[in-house]
Amino acid sequence: MSGRVAGKKVFITGAAQGLGAAMARAVAREGGTVGLGDLNIAGAEKVAAELNAAHGAGTAFAYEIDVTDEQQWIAALDRANRDMGGISGLVNNAGIAGGKGGIEEMSLADFRKVMSVNVDSVFLGAKHAIKYLAQHQPAAIVNISSIAGLIASHNTPAYNASKAAVWLLSKNIALYCAKKGLDVRSNSIHPTFIDTPILDPLRGMLGKEEAEAKLARQVPAGRIGKPEEIAMAAIYLLSDESRFVTGAELKVDGGISAM
Ligand SMILES: NC(=O)c1ccc[n+]([C@@H]2O[C@H](COP(=O)([O-])OP(=O)(O)OC[C@H]3O[C@@H](n4cnc5c(N)ncnc54)[C@H](O)[C@@H]3O)[C@@H](O)[C@H]2O)c1
Repeated sequence: MSGRVAGKKVFITGAAQGLGAAMARAVAREGGTVGLGDLNIAGAEKVAAELNAAHGAGTAFAYEIDVTDEQQWIAALDRANRDMGGISGLVNNAGIAGGKGGIEEMSLADFRKVMSVNVDSVFLGAKHAIKYLAQHQPAAIVNISSIAGLIASHNTPAYNASKAAVWLLSKNIALYCAKKGLDVRSNSIHPTFIDTPILDPLRGMLGKEEAEAKLARQVPAGRIGKPEEIAMAAIYLLSDESRFVTGAELKVDGGISAM
């Protein structure tokens, strides 16, 4: 199938690498235009150049943005709206694992940092993008939560709390838009361990093979996921195929949450 998001103009945060870059590639491949936002502007520009070379000039644009900063959101969305001729999709993907240790060991500064990058970002992105999305209905917001937003562990208090907040904030946004009579849907995606640089600290500790095997043992499907597998879930939620799906969570977790 191709052209599943033809004509869609999608702003994706954290798009310089990992899941964000994979989603940007999928949007371009499926006929959409993509705005790649990231702190790492060189990385975002590199992916944008790759997509413009593959799919034609004007397919992708790169924006430097710190997703915790309201003024940077306002400026980046304004530019993306002008560059892409509108915005009909927002993917709040930028996030950090951050913050080591259990609740007694984690510093308040580390806790706040994770909450800021993972949650303030979704609040600010939706707050300032809805006015553009409303001009290009049907439109969609996709928030990248985690299976860790639904299932806790003993040593990631900030990550668990932040991803659970993204889960319910997505539903809040869905109900807000519906109440306003907007055809702007909002859903969350909950990946388990996916093969991206976010796993590098663990790979650094245990070695690549042992780290991935250790994670895979926790997944009923017996392996970690691929970025493309999350990208295809995002394509579904960004496209009009999911026109009646809002306020939902899509678990892409190899069966972990079924246990
Ligand atoms: N990979 C996984 O195993 C996994 C599992 C579940 C959920 N997730 C979530 O998916 C999302 C993407 O993760 P990933 O694995 O691709 O991570 P990653 O570390 O590979 O990429 C994250 C990107 O976000 C950018 N970023 C970080 N802070 C930012 C900020 N303040 N402003 C703008 N950009 C910023 C980074 O520069 C980077 O390009 C995150 O929200 C993460 O929590 C990942």
